[in-house]
Amino acid sequence: MKTLHLICAARPNFMKIAPLYHALKNENWCDVQIIHTGQHYDYQMSQTFFDDLGLPTPRYHLEIGSGTHAEQTAQTMMSYERLCLEKSRPDLVIVVGDVNATLACSVAAKKLHLKVAHLEAGLRSFDRTMPEEINRVITDSISDYHWTPSKDANENLLKEGLNPDQISFVGNIMIDTYCMMQPQIKEKKTYQRYEVEPQNYVILTLHRPTNVDSEQSLQNIFKKLSQIDFPIIFPAHPRTKKMLKTLKELPGNLKIIEPLGYLDFMSLVSNSAYVISDSGGIQEETTYLGIPCFTLRETTERPITITLGSNQLVTIGTLLDKLNQPKKGITPPLWDGNTAQRLKKIIQEII
Ligand code: UD1
Repeated sequence: MKTLHLICAARPNFMKIAPLYHALKNENWCDVQIIHTGQHYDYQMSQTFFDDLGLPTPRYHLEIGSGTHAEQTAQTMMSYERLCLEKSRPDLVIVVGDVNATLACSVAAKKLHLKVAHLEAGLRSFDRTMPEEINRVITDSISDYHWTPSKDANENLLKEGLNPDQISFVGNIMIDTYCMMQPQIKEKKTYQRYEVEPQNYVILTLHRPTNVDSEQSLQNIFKKLSQIDFPIIFPAHPRTKKMLKTLKELPGNLKIIEPLGYLDFMSLVSNSAYVISDSGGIQEETTYLGIPCFTLRETTERPITITLGSNQLVTIGTLLDKLNQPKKGITPPLWDGNTAQRLKKIIQEII
């Protein structure tokens, strides 16, 4: 029996580990252990996703919590190293996405000579002011196996000199999650709770430091949003909520709500007119759904959502014009709900 560590830390990770956990949980050749580092700890940022996605209590919880990037990363490395040395030495560590724990656990594992696989490898925004870009580049540079969601990611890794034999284009794991949960999502009519009609409201999410850590920047965004005719439902991330308290004026069409669980959030997105966001994952989910997405960022590490999908990059200056040119796009290759099954075969071969 081989031991697999499936590392998760923050909200976007839970959707990435769920399909893989479910694909592996009943296999007799592996013991798949969920390790939660604790970067996100509020009920609405963490446990609600475990409930929605049918995930069990993590086998180990490192309870790292908040801190500066260096604090969070260092504490995760120390705690994960101790876990591997004293409690559970894995045959393969699977890290996902680009959060601080992705970097911390891959570095700690490699220094213990453990095999590391990175799921969602090769994405690049080419903007090194983003903490996530640092996490991606470092994790990919030391991982043994690179599992990519799109061909552009393979190209990025090859340009960085990585071994082509260790790169596999496996598809988009987040789309597996959506496909797995689609019946429950369709049953929900979460928009009713907010007294809006399908296709007659906008979903907004904002949490990138460049957009929300300065009062001026957030105020400028809200000024533009107040000119939109639709009601805007805004599940506010804890980081953003702190800054909201300092603002004097909020747009009349903005409904600020608590962060939502996966099913409610995807129900709202799938019935919306369009989405305005600075998230990474939402660019992919809207592309799969064919819902126009306007991403308030200068770069994206997910260019396929623009070349093939429904995503467009906007600035606060271009937003209102771009809203008049929505895109529907098409589904990128291997965003088909079968990524976890492909991974199961690959993992079995590896270990
Ligand atoms: C992190 C990830 C980002 C991801 C995002 C999704 C990194 C570098 N960033 O950013 O890639 O898109 O999660 O949400 O790993 N907080 C709470 N409760 C919580 C979690 C956080 O109040 O459950 C507060 C923290 O105290 C902190 C702030 O929110 O002040 C930011 O949290 P942090 O985990 O540092 O980064 P995120 O902005 O969430």
